[in-house]
Amino acid sequence: MVIQKLTETVNFIKTKTKIKPKIGIILGSGLGHFVQHMQIETTLAFHEIPHFIPPTVEGHSGNLIFGSIGDRDIVVLQGRLHYYEGHSMETVVFPARTMALLGIEILIVTNSAGGYGDGMKPGDFMLIEDHINLMGTNPLMGPNIKELGPRFPDMTEAYDKELIIIAERILRSQKTFFHKGIYVGVTGPTYETPSEIRMFKNFGGKAVGMSTIPEVIAANHLGIRVAAVSCITNLAAGISQNKLTHAEVTETAKNVEQKFCDFLKEFTVKV
Ligand code: HPA
Repeated sequence: MVIQKLTETVNFIKTKTKIKPKIGIILGSGLGHFVQHMQIETTLAFHEIPHFIPPTVEGHSGNLIFGSIGDRDIVVLQGRLHYYEGHSMETVVFPARTMALLGIEILIVTNSAGGYGDGMKPGDFMLIEDHINLMGTNPLMGPNIKELGPRFPDMTEAYDKELIIIAERILRSQKTFFHKGIYVGVTGPTYETPSEIRMFKNFGGKAVGMSTIPEVIAANHLGIRVAAVSCITNLAAGISQNKLTHAEVTETAKNVEQKFCDFLKEFTVKV
């Protein structure tokens, strides 16, 4: 039973931290260094936490970290679980649901994504305004867990408009170039074919990635306000002249780390 597992996990975590976070942050591939900018109170490795499963992907450490930025108490998921690792959707969203039951009201999701919007370059940011779920499944499949939310959650404003406005203001003031657009979520683990990317572009998308959508759906189910930002780590297949590699993804993420952390720090204290 998911709810029983979540209760056990949350009860365990509450014995380890005094922080009562209102903001949760999920750090994507290569973006885990953000935690160096926070005042850390407690770090829990995934393997220490009941019902948490350690991630298998390079660039994802697998820690749940409690602390603060300025006067804001936060919880940070450093490393996440992906559907392509073979986990069930229930497992993929378990950490996000845990953060929700710990009391967060806002979830900030970050990811690495391939870009195909006009004018995109590796290293650009994109504020996600909406998504298209092409993962072929949904984390809310199965009996509805009514303690978490309704059977048929509304997704009209899956990405909170007010949070997007605040994010835009901060990025502009920091002179960080950014896009806004639709994120298309796929399972991976292959990168896309050029034809798939052309289709996503015709759908109105600008970025593609293998994460985020499950957690965003789970958070919306729970009534949590979501903001999400992609780091465009590479141009998508067929747009890029090069073959795609995970090394390029992590390398670009590393290059923009400072800008990314500056944004996330200010965003955390202003939301
Ligand atoms: N496609 C899918 N996921 C990704 C990409 C990509 O090009 N880059 C980073 N994550």
